[in-house]
Amino acid sequence: MFDVNEIRKDFPMLKNKMQNHDLIYFDNAATSLKPTCVIKAINDYYLKYCANAHRGDYDIAHKVDEEYENGRNIVAKFINANPNEIVFTSGTTMGLNIVAYGLMDKINEGDEILITEAEHASNVLPWFKIAKEKNAIIKYIPLTKEGKLTPDSLKNTLSNKTKVVAIAHVSNVLGYVVDAKTLAKLTHQYGAYFVLDAAQSAPHLKLDVKDIDADFVCFSGHKMLGPTGIGVLYGKYKLLKEMDPLMSGGGMNTRFDMCGDVGLQIPPLKFEAGTQNIEGVIGLSSAIKYLEKIGMNNIEEYEKELKKYAVEKLKKLDNVIIYNENSESGIITFNIKDVFAQDAGSYFNSKGIAVRTGLHCAKILVNFLHTEATVRASLYFYNTKEEIDAFVEACKSGGDFLDAFFA
Ligand SMILES: Cc1ncc(COP(=O)(O)O)c(C=O)c1O
Repeated sequence: MFDVNEIRKDFPMLKNKMQNHDLIYFDNAATSLKPTCVIKAINDYYLKYCANAHRGDYDIAHKVDEEYENGRNIVAKFINANPNEIVFTSGTTMGLNIVAYGLMDKINEGDEILITEAEHASNVLPWFKIAKEKNAIIKYIPLTKEGKLTPDSLKNTLSNKTKVVAIAHVSNVLGYVVDAKTLAKLTHQYGAYFVLDAAQSAPHLKLDVKDIDADFVCFSGHKMLGPTGIGVLYGKYKLLKEMDPLMSGGGMNTRFDMCGDVGLQIPPLKFEAGTQNIEGVIGLSSAIKYLEKIGMNNIEEYEKELKKYAVEKLKKLDNVIIYNENSESGIITFNIKDVFAQDAGSYFNSKGIAVRTGLHCAKILVNFLHTEATVRASLYFYNTKEEIDAFVEACKSGGDFLDAFFA
């Protein structure tokens, strides 16, 4: 295991105050903080070898090409893929849009696309669009009472009409981790494509796309210590080769003529039109090296322990309703009794604690949870038990919650 106090020294943001309190950052599912090595790697690119990628014939341009393609190798190794199966995107959202658009040709009228009520907007709206375009049908795989997606539930929903199963590896609201390997196997028994939204899993656990046998996996750099605006789409090479790219422009073509005849690059370049987020790739590479040094299994274990510690303490409070006490990741979704979530969020802010409140972009899930909005505290490996103690103390303040506005 690692020494969390040593690790915290690598994150300059943790030295900041909010409302005159030491910052307690519990909004890691929205975005993570960045270690100094990532900030330095990005700075170095701008200070020492700033040039475009795949375009120049001079030394610093070659250095950029090397760093960019080495970034692809680093990502590939991180998730056990081949480098030519790694497409750089702007984030999970763009990755899922590329997949939905790319699969459009394979989806026909009456085909079924399976998702769940717990999906993030980014794994709902692209499928709504394709379903509308192709007269296909969106079906929701039923969740258990707790909000879990189980293999049995998928088994009962799959049919010969199923073309796509698109689900989150870890729900961003309830934090349940699905058995992706079994779900992929069931999906493939019906000849359908298995799409995994790994936005909340890639930062927190060891992701092995080959072992899962996923057809497509998408995640975002900014939730795993990297900069914003960079993400990854993994796709099986054969499938990437068959798909039409969403974006067209420079870098993704081999030739074009006046009649509109266009030759495309092979994957992954086929999907990387225009100047790419070079600093993003460099920052993400540095982030992955940092995560690997700590060890993804250690990160997962530590976060589970933190969550258990927090839940045990919160359960002792009469005024806290927890919606996901048994989920396996570091996400705690709750409400303070009789306090609207946003009001609670503002109160936590007054104590220097950053949490997320509202619907968390999973807008269908409110029907399931039977509540207008929730508060989400999402942990990462640089959070501590002491921070949780302070958070639990703040939760105790019950009747004082509205004082934040009148102070
Ligand atoms: C489960 C899930 N999917 C997709 C996304 C979208 O990620 P991004 O905004 O980085 O594209 C998020 C972001 O919170 C998420 O939690």
